Amino acid sequence: MLEGVQNDFPVLKNHPGLAYLDSAASTQKPSVVLDAMDHFYRFNYANIHRGVYSLSEQATASYEAARMRIARFIHAKSPENLVFTRNTTESINLVAATIGESMVREGDEIVVTIMEHHANFVPWQQLALKKGATLKVVGIDRETLELDMAELASAITDKTRFVCCTMASNVLGATPNVAEVTRLARKFGALTVFDAAQFVPHHPLDITSFEPDFLALSGHKMLGADGFGVLYGKSEHLASMPPFMTGGDMIENVTIEKTTYSQPPQKFEAGTPFIAGAISLHSAIDYLENIGLDRIQEHETELARLADEKLRAMGKVRLYRNANRIHNGILPFNVEGVHPHDVATILGDMDICVRAGHHCAQPLIHFMDEIAMIRASFYLYNTEEDVERLVAGIQKTLEVFHK
Ligand SMILES: Cc1ncc(COP(=O)(O)O)c(C=O)c1O
Repeated sequence: MLEGVQNDFPVLKNHPGLAYLDSAASTQKPSVVLDAMDHFYRFNYANIHRGVYSLSEQATASYEAARMRIARFIHAKSPENLVFTRNTTESINLVAATIGESMVREGDEIVVTIMEHHANFVPWQQLALKKGATLKVVGIDRETLELDMAELASAITDKTRFVCCTMASNVLGATPNVAEVTRLARKFGALTVFDAAQFVPHHPLDITSFEPDFLALSGHKMLGADGFGVLYGKSEHLASMPPFMTGGDMIENVTIEKTTYSQPPQKFEAGTPFIAGAISLHSAIDYLENIGLDRIQEHETELARLADEKLRAMGKVRLYRNANRIHNGILPFNVEGVHPHDVATILGDMDICVRAGHHCAQPLIHFMDEIAMIRASFYLYNTEEDVERLVAGIQKTLEVFHK
């Protein structure tokens, strides 16, 4: 168990008694991250890349240092493989709107999984509709709730252009075997797009172990600021892709007749970016690595398993994950005979923050024959006390609805 971490998080100190179990939606921020942003705005703020005065040069250096730090964190070959975006959603839209637009033709196929967050589903669905391509949706095993690898293997054909897969489901916590997904895609020359939004904050990641073509993440889900995300892309793709947006900061030369573009990653970073967001993620990664991703994963897994055990013992609570498959902090459940929103409201009144609904994964919720689910998600700052509070909240719910 991680001790004393909560003290690093002002929101948790300012709300004693709060059980924040919604980190899969967004995480709280430690003081070091807030201080890094504050310091930048108070002492070093200027726009990047354009100024030749020292404040601007310092801001540029901090922005680019963040790129190096994030590259090192995920083991990318070069910082130039990283494009800064607003979030995972924008990162994936960027891929679909550039290389997706140029590669996918009528009759082609795009493979996604039923587990995808809408961010890695809707852009591909829309691209397929626009191009007259087929969207193939690979299911999960109903018993294990893991990706059905046999179905994936038969879904990928020589018509497949993209295989788009989550690295960790935001609803189920399942983590597909991405090395195998990549191997299957590559056999037919399809490109891989991995949604790592829910994986990177909770599991150590070394992309050299599976060499994705593209991978997306969001800073706000890993202690950084909201509104800052990252797209990793292989150099050969980034070099040949057309720009996503055009305007300032992404050009090499503009005349009345035509424009030439900067090299990647600048080619994909039109306009003034969220500089402090990059700085926040740099600081967040330092903080996370200082504690250790493996320790964080172990901690949140222990809490999720403890909650699973206690809720299961109460009866009338349906826990979806197989206890021995829980290896991160995501715990989806429902209370028999009570609408998930009613459960979340009772918990909310007790300062227990969970999420209820379709979790931006409607195809998965339909596949599971549910209308909605409740999700508790644990992170490094949660404690056994938070588990006790959740259990007390569910006890209260049962008392209210099963009198
Ligand atoms: C698995 C997954 N992918 C993508 C997203 C979208 O992230 P963002 O809203 O930061 O773009 C989320 C957010 O909940 C997520 O959990």
